[in-house]
Formats: sequence, C-alpha cells, structure tokens
Amino acid sequence: MRLAKRIESLPPYLFVEISKKIAQKKAQGLDVITFGIGDPDVPTPRHILNRLIEAAKDPANHRYPDSAGLPELRQAIANWYKRRFNVALDPETQVVPPIGGKEGVGHMALCFIDPGDIALVPNPGYPVYAIGTMFAGGESYLMPLKEENGFLPDLEAIPAEVAANARIMWLNYPNNPTSAVADIDYFIRVVEFAKAHDIVVCHDAPYTEIAYDGYVPVSFLEAPGAMDVGMEFNSFSKSYNMTGWRIGMAVGNADVIDALSRVKSNLDSGIPQAIQYAAIEALNSPQDCVSDMVAIYQKRRDKVIEALSQIGMKTSPPRAGLYIWAKIPDGYTSIEFATRLLEEALVVVTPGIGYGPGGEGYIRISLTTPDDRLEEGLLRLQKWYANLT
Ligand SMILES: Cc1ncc(COP(=O)(O)O)c(C=O)c1O
Repeated sequence: MRLAKRIESLPPYLFVEISKKIAQKKAQGLDVITFGIGDPDVPTPRHILNRLIEAAKDPANHRYPDSAGLPELRQAIANWYKRRFNVALDPETQVVPPIGGKEGVGHMALCFIDPGDIALVPNPGYPVYAIGTMFAGGESYLMPLKEENGFLPDLEAIPAEVAANARIMWLNYPNNPTSAVADIDYFIRVVEFAKAHDIVVCHDAPYTEIAYDGYVPVSFLEAPGAMDVGMEFNSFSKSYNMTGWRIGMAVGNADVIDALSRVKSNLDSGIPQAIQYAAIEALNSPQDCVSDMVAIYQKRRDKVIEALSQIGMKTSPPRAGLYIWAKIPDGYTSIEFATRLLEEALVVVTPGIGYGPGGEGYIRISLTTPDDRLEEGLLRLQKWYANLT
C-alpha cells in the first residue's frame, strides 16, 4: 500500500504519543494526573443539555442537516456577535457553523492555498494551521511569537518576498499555547498589513470568553476594515463546555465565508440539528454559566502561578485562555522535561515543542483539571522539581 505524500509528511502527533504513555501507566494501575489537554472537566450546563435532549427526540432532527446550518443558529450567532463585540453580521452571508472550530480551521486552507502558496502561521501555534496548509499543498512561513513582543507576530519582520507570496495569515488570541492577548491596535495594524499584501486574515478565537480580572478580549472583526480582509472562528467548546458536541462559528467577510461553505457543502452534511439547537440555547440564555466557569479557572490559574513561583519556574498570570505557559530550566528539552515529569511523578504537561520549534523551552499546563487533582498534581510537581538534577 502506498500512502499519499501528505500522509507520509505528517509529523508524529506528539499528543497521541503522550496519550499512549498515559494509557500504559493507567493500565499498570498508576494514578496519573493530567494537565495536558485543554478539554473542560465540568459538564455541559444543564439547560443546554436539556435542550439537546428535547431536540434529539424530535424526528425532524433525525434527518440530514444542511451544512450551512439552521437559519435560527446563524441568526443566534449574528445576534451574539452584535451583543458581545458590537460586530454586525448578515446571518445569510457572513455566518457558517463548522463542526467545531478545528474542522473549519483545517478546511480553510482548501479555500485559499494552491500548491506552492504560503500561509503565515504563528510559531508556537495550534498545529492545525500548518497541517491544513500542508494538506492543500502549501508552505507555512512560521511567524515567531516571542515573549519580548508579547507573543504577537512582528509584522515588520516578515520578509517582503514572503508577504508577496502569502495568501493567508493565521492569528489566534487569546492564544494557545501562550495565553497572550492582542488588543485592537494590533489588529488594526494586521488589517493594514493584509490590505497592503492582499492577504486573507483568519483569526481563530475560541478563548474570547475565558478571561480574568475583568479583562474583556476583543474580536478581530472589531478592527475597522477587518471585514474587508478576513474572518474569525469562535467556538462553543470552551465557553460552554461543549467540546464533545462539535460545533463552532465561522464569521466575517462574505466571500471568505462563501468559499468555506462551498468546501464544506462538498465534504460534510452539517452538524446534527439537536446539537445546533443546544448551541442556540447556549447563546440565547443568560451567560452566568460562562462567568461561573471563568471563576473556577481563575482560582486554578492563581494556584498554578503560586505553585510555580514558589519553585522559581518563570511564568506570569495570563489575562485570558485556559493555559499557563511556563519556562523550563536550561539543560532540558521540553520533551525531556515532560517525559521525566510523567515517568517520575505521574504528572502530564504538554511539551512546548508540540506547538512548533518556537515552543521549545516551555511547557503548557492546562487549567481543565478538577480542583483536588490540580492541587495534588501541583504538590507532585513541586516535590519532583525540588529534586530535579
Ligand atoms: C487555538 C485553537 N483553535 C481551535 C481549537 C478547536 O476547538 P473546537 O473544539 O471548536 O474544534 C482549539 C482547541 O483546543 C484551539 O486551541
């Protein structure tokens, strides 16, 4: 059997390797605590679940959905964008729901990347930006996210010949894995850059609702002119603990949304309608469940930051997002550090290299671990770190 080059070129999926190791330890009866994956531990809020159950019983929802999404869902997304960001969207032409943000992100490259074209991709970054590009036959130009630049790409550092051949720029704020945030002034500069070089901007924003100490993340579409050059992905996964239901939002420039809708309508048959009704319920109901969740994450964030600062690991409290991005001591690669931590203390963190070469020297700690396990995991980490040689 001969596999296509795009499959052979796939890097070994580090997270699968880590999952295998965890499964082995668990099979041996060992008590592993994981700060690895960003998958909320708290269930989907009751009212959302009740709506899903009710809708699942209705035979009208047992048939093929339309990949464009229910008109009521597109309207609810447009209304939410207006309320939350003061961004006006036409639900007919500027909104489509992907099967989770990941599906939309992965397929977006098919809309704009021809073989040899360049995508500007943050490094470190969510791996799907570069993988989608590679599947479409394109090349990723890795834009370094440096701590000294607030983990924002330095637009001026992008070489002129790269900008000239780039078709698409990926951004993601609040950021995974660094948890950095971008303000509107930065997005205004991105719009100028995109207009100057005729580049489509895709802002991947599943963490806009997870923010701390009163900070309110902005949408890229709030920047004047953003609607001319780009779009934004948002998600129900993190805001409403709906990772398992697979539903997201793709909104913005009508030509971009039309291109994505055309790809989708040829590849998928939409999101089960009961899940779409649950998502409508999530957006249209009071948002207390979101603030309750954020309060839980904020307490966990503070605990992790305190524990890390007690042992002298360098990090700072993020203003948003689900992750603590911490520097590891010199002399270790992030894989060595994470592997030893798992082998010797049964604690899982994600090695920064999993997000590209720019993630080397860091680990990512997810705040989606239940409180008692989080405390136990931090104690183990501290004890292990004290004896690290
Ligand atoms: C930056 C980023 N984009 C997209 C996703 C995918 O989210 P979804 O569950 O909506 O597919 C994630 C999930 O962790 C993420 O971190």
